[in-house]
Amino acid sequence: MVSLSMTVLAAVAAQVAAAAETPKSSIKVSSSGGNVTGQYHYGFLHEDINNSGDGGIYAELLRNRAFQYSDTYPVSLAAWSAVNGASLSISSLDEPLSDALPYSMNVAASNGSYSAIGFSNEGYWGMSGDYSGKFTASLDSALNSDVFATVEIESKATADEWVKHEFEITPRLDAPDANNTFSVTFDPSGANNGSLDFNLVSLFPPTYKDRENGLRVDIAEALADLHPSILRFPGGNMLEGLTIDTYWNWKDSIGPLTERPGFQGVWGYQQTHGLGLMEYLYWAEDMGLDIIVGVWAGLSLDGDLISEEDFQWVIDEAMDEIEFIRGEANTTWGAVRAEFGHPEPFELYYVEIGNEDWLAGYPEGWDTYQEYRFPLFLEAITEKYPDITVIASGDSDYGYEIPAPAIGDYHPYRTPDALVEEFDRFDNDYGHIVGEVAATHPNGGIGWDGDLMPFPWWIGAVGEAVSLIGYERNADRIPGSMYAPVLRSMDRWQWAITILQFAADTAMTTKSTSWYIWEIMAAHPITTVLPATDEFDPLFYVAGKDDDRDAYVWKGSLYNITNTANAIYTNITGAAHMDISIKFDGVRSGTKASFTLLTNPSGDPFAFNDPYTGINIVNTKTSVIKANHKGEFEFAMPELSVAVLDTDPELCGWRKQSTRDFKI
Ligand SMILES: *[C@@H]1O[C@H](CO)[C@@H](O)[C@H](O)[C@H]1NC(C)=O
Ligand SMILES: *[C@@H]1O[C@H](CO)[C@@H](O)[C@H](O)[C@H]1NC(C)=O
Ligand SMILES: *[C@@H]1O[C@H](CO)[C@@H](O)[C@H](O)[C@H]1NC(C)=O
Ligand SMILES: *[C@@H]1O[C@H](CO)[C@@H](O)[C@H](O)[C@H]1NC(C)=O
Ligand SMILES: *[C@@H]1O[C@H](CO)[C@@H](O)[C@H](O)[C@H]1NC(C)=O
Ligand SMILES: *[C@@H]1O[C@H](CO)[C@@H](O)[C@H](O)[C@H]1NC(C)=O
Ligand SMILES: *[C@@H]1O[C@H](CO)[C@@H](O)[C@H](O)[C@H]1NC(C)=O
Ligand SMILES: *[C@@H]1O[C@H](CO)[C@@H](O)[C@H](O)[C@H]1NC(C)=O
Repeated sequence: MVSLSMTVLAAVAAQVAAAAETPKSSIKVSSSGGNVTGQYHYGFLHEDINNSGDGGIYAELLRNRAFQYSDTYPVSLAAWSAVNGASLSISSLDEPLSDALPYSMNVAASNGSYSAIGFSNEGYWGMSGDYSGKFTASLDSALNSDVFATVEIESKATADEWVKHEFEITPRLDAPDANNTFSVTFDPSGANNGSLDFNLVSLFPPTYKDRENGLRVDIAEALADLHPSILRFPGGNMLEGLTIDTYWNWKDSIGPLTERPGFQGVWGYQQTHGLGLMEYLYWAEDMGLDIIVGVWAGLSLDGDLISEEDFQWVIDEAMDEIEFIRGEANTTWGAVRAEFGHPEPFELYYVEIGNEDWLAGYPEGWDTYQEYRFPLFLEAITEKYPDITVIASGDSDYGYEIPAPAIGDYHPYRTPDALVEEFDRFDNDYGHIVGEVAATHPNGGIGWDGDLMPFPWWIGAVGEAVSLIGYERNADRIPGSMYAPVLRSMDRWQWAITILQFAADTAMTTKSTSWYIWEIMAAHPITTVLPATDEFDPLFYVAGKDDDRDAYVWKGSLYNITNTANAIYTNITGAAHMDISIKFDGVRSGTKASFTLLTNPSGDPFAFNDPYTGINIVNTKTSVIKANHKGEFEFAMPELSVAVLDTDPELCGWRKQSTRDFKI
């Protein structure tokens, strides 16, 4: 049977053949001689960059919920407003809610005789209304008098004591947009002297996998749909901190929310510590992800660092963290984790020491990293946990011969052309993770200092596909690639290139062009990379076998096809393409395979997925094709396209494979 997509391609072929000879590529894949790699990891780095955590994937809807502060961001009533002439003020009571949360909000009747006074919170640029005393808590329109939900809560308040009030609020009708606020009111005549104190006022919609203090469902699901298998966290610059005193201290991020002080972060706003270490670990567990945990390495972004004489506590903090994550419940920190409800250790096989230590405080930062910071960590971790792969935060280009058995971390933010030119970057190198990668700047732009593209765009995504193929070909030494950063709040951003865009209104959540490319690459795992005809450019590919499914897989990307070298800069709709045949050694005539082709029918290499229009410019077509009488699979790919062939036509997804099977 000839599928529709093949018919279309054949027509295109005939049309172009008349004009110019069609380039061909015949690829032969051996059945032996490959490197057993374990499943290659596709995933992402997450840190709370510009409200991608607080106000982003962390589902809390209220902003400034606990009046947290730092030296940089004084305690304030930001995001709160008075209702019915109430007077709101910050107070520091003799009996605070906790040492971590010493300030609270006093709500007093100041004027007029209202039977109900209170306060409201505007959320993070609005709040979505589509989720599901006497206090009266309500979800109101910010624009008019519409009230979408109310709930009355019997007060349990007693004088001079903090009492937790919990309630569920279910909208009677869906709010039409995100222009909503949350408010709480009470009758001031019933309060001691007409006022009450509030702290840790929190509102959560249903969360991903119903985790308490969990993740926003639509964002988490869009990430889970990428078939990721690895999560790198918590940074990134946020891990390092602007100063030595303000790095991401994991011990401040665990336990009840009342025990988390928050900190200044590095991205220009007070952060809550709500998305803490346990929340990251549950995130990984709920999506079936291996983790790469970044531990603080004694260097902050201002270049300040901890001296060698003083360094032991830095190591100790990291060793405690590793024990918290994967120690048995009878270890000191494993017991703390067990107390928080997770007696089973989490799996942890990758620990990264710091982040981009070649950058802050150069050259002293990088010198000390090589002299003592990294070696001390490597020794301490490998001695206690020989099955952990320790990752240095720089790559082999920075003049540090990273000592085995450690590996490096490579962060290419590039033009699409540069990603393609680096296709062979790891053909002759030792191990690295690609801990951050994305096409960010346009070809012909002025590089790192130039303007970022406004959104991930088609040719950038195809360039990423070429680089991902180059990394996966070397999966015996390169365990995985991570997109970064992953999330962009359309209400507060500067770095425009992220794999998902979002706003308070869930209708804005948008999968970028890169999302579609990364999804297809991850959905077809390979466990053994097989030797194949290695002629590349303009067709770049990796071939292999997935031993678990007994399937052969080929992933390819066509970039800058030879007979239309300039095509990528012009409009190429229906133009250049390549005829491709693939012969897997031992695969017989008549064998079926699924063939998925990703193209951009607009022909505009700068096309992107715009959250304001919701139009997806990526065309994904899957068909089943059969090996011909010679056992070859034949198909055509147009310029700037990505394809995956998989002899397991039933494959409709992926599976998790633990790094336990993967050793470098
Ligand atoms: C009380 O309300 C009146 C009228 O709304 C206003 O003019 C006045 O400033 C208020 N006084 C205080 C102390 O808030
Ligand atoms: C709320 O409505 C105002 C006025 O129409 C608009 O400017 C603003 O962008 C809206 N905010 C959200 C979060 O939808
Ligand atoms: C009312 O009581 C609160 C706490 O009990 C106290 O902080 C506040 O100063 C009191 N206000 C007046 C006007 O007495
Ligand atoms: C801790 O528990 C593990 C198994 O859960 C056991 O093998 C180990 O001996 C225990 N260690 C101590 C110090 O009790
Ligand atoms: C793609 O083609 C353009 C135009 O010929 C050329 O400038 C560019 O270097 C090519 N890119 C790659 C990665 O080969
Ligand atoms: C975060 O957002 C602010 C405000 O838009 C901007 O000034 C800042 O540069 C942003 N930082 C990043 C890393 O995007
Ligand atoms: C297997 O790994 C070796 C050493 O890293 C490399 O030279 C070789 O090209 C790899 N083979 C395949 C099929 O990728
Ligand atoms: C390419 O052609 C399409 C369809 O005609 C058009 O919408 C698009 O704007 C063109 N792009 C460029 C870069 O000329």
